[in-house]
Amino acid sequence: MSATGTKTLPYGEAAIAEAARVIAAGGCVAVPTETVYGLAADATDSDAVAGIYAAKGRPSFNPLIVHVPDLAAAEALAVFDDAARSLAERFWPGPLTLVVPVRPGAVSSLVTAGLDTVAVRVPAHRAMQALLRATGTPLAAPSANASNRISPTRAEHVLATLEGRIALVIDDGPTSAGLESTIVDARAGAVLRPGPITQDDLFPAQGRGPATKQSETGPRPSPGHVIAPGQLALHYSPTKPVRLNATSAQTDEWLIGFGTITGDDTLSASGNLAEAAAHLFDSLHRADASDRGRIAVAPIPADGLGDAINDRLRRAAHH
Ligand code: TXA
Ligand code: MG
Repeated sequence: MSATGTKTLPYGEAAIAEAARVIAAGGCVAVPTETVYGLAADATDSDAVAGIYAAKGRPSFNPLIVHVPDLAAAEALAVFDDAARSLAERFWPGPLTLVVPVRPGAVSSLVTAGLDTVAVRVPAHRAMQALLRATGTPLAAPSANASNRISPTRAEHVLATLEGRIALVIDDGPTSAGLESTIVDARAGAVLRPGPITQDDLFPAQGRGPATKQSETGPRPSPGHVIAPGQLALHYSPTKPVRLNATSAQTDEWLIGFGTITGDDTLSASGNLAEAAAHLFDSLHRADASDRGRIAVAPIPADGLGDAINDRLRRAAHH
């Protein structure tokens, strides 16, 4: 496909066959996962991976998440100790990414940005699973949006920033979780990026205490400390200013409500955090496209999934 057109195909055998051809030829394809739509290419092919960065207009080479169909395929790429294997067995397939030591040469060094670890996950979504099985290769896939823009939870969101820059989008409707996967450093037992699988899901015995969580606003980690290097504050920005913890709209603001705070749009009228997570990026996309110059968002409780939602909102507000 040329710069003039991005083809959208509904999920099905024809779409997967065409996507597999594009990937085998070294191209990249937007495909839904249960978290957000990803922009997938062959993780073993450096030119293909470079194509992801070019399409996104990503200025620097941050390490990417590698998607594989099952734990056995993950163990072919990386070394799993008992703790890593136990997390994988509990949460895969699903929205959990594990950072584990990479087997040298298993994926392109562009994928790992030269680190000795790789971020790997087994997605549950039927489209990504079908594509993994059709291509027979691990697929590197960041979110399918232009660099620094809002992550896509619908095919239309992908087109909003990548139209004409990629050949193909597989449309399988809105994603279910709505937030990028939780990233855990398996060796340190630390959450690097909060997501759909919460701290309490992961480490129930620990409660919220000891596991160290990365924060872009906090102190810089000491050398050798685990870090998700691509977790820059600007990662999820709408083009407009965002004000958090708003209980009503000010002049020229589009208010995104939650619970009893009703706005122009609501994340969840019943105050349900899973529903709010699934709607978050869609609501931000709508707010960004509205006729109002600014965006305000109602307070979201910090517990459970609220942790990941507030993480994304803080990034959206960090202008
Ligand atoms: O839900 C998701 O995870 C989506 C879907 C498409 O799977 N993907 C996604 O990828 O969010 P991306 O590229 O936007 O985020 C990758 C994150 C970055 O924050 C990066 O720094 C971190 O993973 N990461 C990748 N490799 C790493 C490594 N070896 N060590 C620590 N962090 C790593
Ligand atoms: Mg992203």
